[in-house]
Amino acid sequence: MCGIFAYLNYRVPRTRGDIIQTLIKGLLRLEYRGYDSAGVAVDGPGKDHTANISLYKKTGKVKALDEEIYKNNSIDLEAELDTHFGIAHTRWATHGEPSSLNSHPQRSDKNNEFVVIHNGIITNYKELKKYLVSKGYEFESDTDTEVIPKLIKYLYDNRENDYVSFSTLVERVIQQLEGAFALVFKSIHFPGEAVATRRGSPLLIGVRSQYELSTDEIPVQYNCGDSRRDEQEKNLLNQVGSTNALHSVHDRLAVEFYFASDASAIIEHTNKVVYLEDDDVAVVVEGKLSVHRVKRKVGEDHVRLIQTLQVELQQIMKGNFEAFMQKEIFEQPESVFNTMRGRICFDSNIVLLGGLSDHLKEIKRCRRLIVIGCGTSYHAGVATRQILEELTELPVMVELASDFLDRITPVFRDDVCFFISQSGETADTLMALRYCKKRGALTVGVTNTVGSSICRETDCGVHINAGPEVGVASTKAYTSQFVSLIMFGLMMSEDRLSMQPRRLEIINGLKKLPELIKEVLALDDIIKSLADELHHQKSLLVMGRGYNYATCLEGALKIKEITYMHSEGIMAGELKHGPLALIDKHMPVIMIIMKDACYQKCHNALQQVTARQGRPIIICCQDDPEISKMAYKTIELPQTVDCLQGILSVIPLQLMSFHLAVLRGYDVDCPRNLAKSVTVE
Ligand code: F6R
Repeated sequence: MCGIFAYLNYRVPRTRGDIIQTLIKGLLRLEYRGYDSAGVAVDGPGKDHTANISLYKKTGKVKALDEEIYKNNSIDLEAELDTHFGIAHTRWATHGEPSSLNSHPQRSDKNNEFVVIHNGIITNYKELKKYLVSKGYEFESDTDTEVIPKLIKYLYDNRENDYVSFSTLVERVIQQLEGAFALVFKSIHFPGEAVATRRGSPLLIGVRSQYELSTDEIPVQYNCGDSRRDEQEKNLLNQVGSTNALHSVHDRLAVEFYFASDASAIIEHTNKVVYLEDDDVAVVVEGKLSVHRVKRKVGEDHVRLIQTLQVELQQIMKGNFEAFMQKEIFEQPESVFNTMRGRICFDSNIVLLGGLSDHLKEIKRCRRLIVIGCGTSYHAGVATRQILEELTELPVMVELASDFLDRITPVFRDDVCFFISQSGETADTLMALRYCKKRGALTVGVTNTVGSSICRETDCGVHINAGPEVGVASTKAYTSQFVSLIMFGLMMSEDRLSMQPRRLEIINGLKKLPELIKEVLALDDIIKSLADELHHQKSLLVMGRGYNYATCLEGALKIKEITYMHSEGIMAGELKHGPLALIDKHMPVIMIIMKDACYQKCHNALQQVTARQGRPIIICCQDDPEISKMAYKTIELPQTVDCLQGILSVIPLQLMSFHLAVLRGYDVDCPRNLAKSVTVE
């Protein structure tokens, strides 16, 4: 949901062309967060680079922006800039259609005195705009963001003292903002300086230096929020001629900083990062990073750690695959294995999720489990609800985060609330987390992104360890969320004697899972040829029940989001209550009929479909002649334990949606109107 990237080189000579390439590359890594338009701001365009700021913006994907910049003859790409700060943005439109004017960076005025990139939504922008218009500031875009550069210019124009620091201005700006934001500011009044801040939207800073970093933490500086600090800072600057008086990451010269919405844009440059907290204002002045806050909250950490990223560069590259989504589908034997690695002891049948062990007693005493998520992450909750109820013997509610909040659902101190989120940043899920926390429930995160907001704000949690997921359509995160929730159920039932045979069956099933996933992936050619038959259709129904109902929802979601076909996941038990009216010989239907407790009932649904001349493609178990007889085509899967079957049955639908999208000529990794990591409500 909008990608932010910025790069500061301090005493590291780079040409302007290099700097722009670094910015473009950063945006390409973040493009999955939005691709309606893109823009960059750099000093220049001439040799006297600090005199003005150039903005380059273009509707469409980052590639179009890149081409646009190189078409521009006035920009001196060879100019060497020893110290420079450039900012860049890829947009997912919320306010205002995709257009150059609405693209970021947004600016304060025609001279580009202040320029800003923003991820999030400013909810009080109308009031701020009205005020600024009344003061004579002219607006040119339809965005909520534009109030920010205008507001900082207003504060700068009306400063009390000659000297005001860039960070103080930003602190004052964010005191006026409501909503969610990650922001990076650049200004001609503060050349070579960077200021970044966040509230509710993610932002991290990578640090690269040719020397060892001299510290692994940055002390937070608490400001009184008035102009006294500016005076003090100014005096210190005058005294020592450098910013030694500020706390620094680094004592030496030559350092580079990378600001980004997520680690995937940073990892190729450095693995040392600082995650900002809500309302932190991070400042780089003369190559030194410091973090400021207006006041200290009770219990708040007073340092920000410099952490080491565990992600490898190749994990975020496509390799030989056509699309990230395809790569991620094929990674599932390993990603599922990594989710289980070190957590299940197959000899002793012990399952240990380290992140939950300190809270296990409390969880066991709870009144109910509430599993909350959006989209695919919600489906992981639907998929595991039945087995969690069986293994934990607790009532389990599965909730869509937005609806849960809309209903002002009662939550109690003895509830345990799970927040499932690949990105760990989804605004609806994060809001639901804060809602449950306020009501005293124990909160558990199940995320794929270390250091994400949901990770940090929950009481405890499980990392699903699926590895970075770049494709907008979630695939491997789903199967890893599924496995994580099952492992939680197994951990909860360890001391139940009566549960041991069932636990053993599931643990054995998990052990074989990676191999079975490989068998399913080997069906790719069969699925591709089915997609070939189906890709001209307008609609595709996916039907099933019991343990495989979630697969129907998830499969239909995959199909609609990347192929733009209408697709619906239908609970087979509901068929006769309405959806049956859709069935005729023309309507494509996929049915999931596995050998489990619902087999006979699914069979009944199949009869009802074929009696109306429906021609179902059936996802079934190998060697099921009875089903094969009635199917138009079958996709035959290896059989596993009933509660794990959904991990296998979803894969043909992931592959089907991928092939359908390719055959229909769509960009699989960048479905229209969507973005990964939905950081707005
Ligand atoms: C669908 C998809 C979305 C996400 C949803 C929640 O393929 O990716 O439905 O599952 O936006 O995102 P996370 O899991 O990051 O909270």
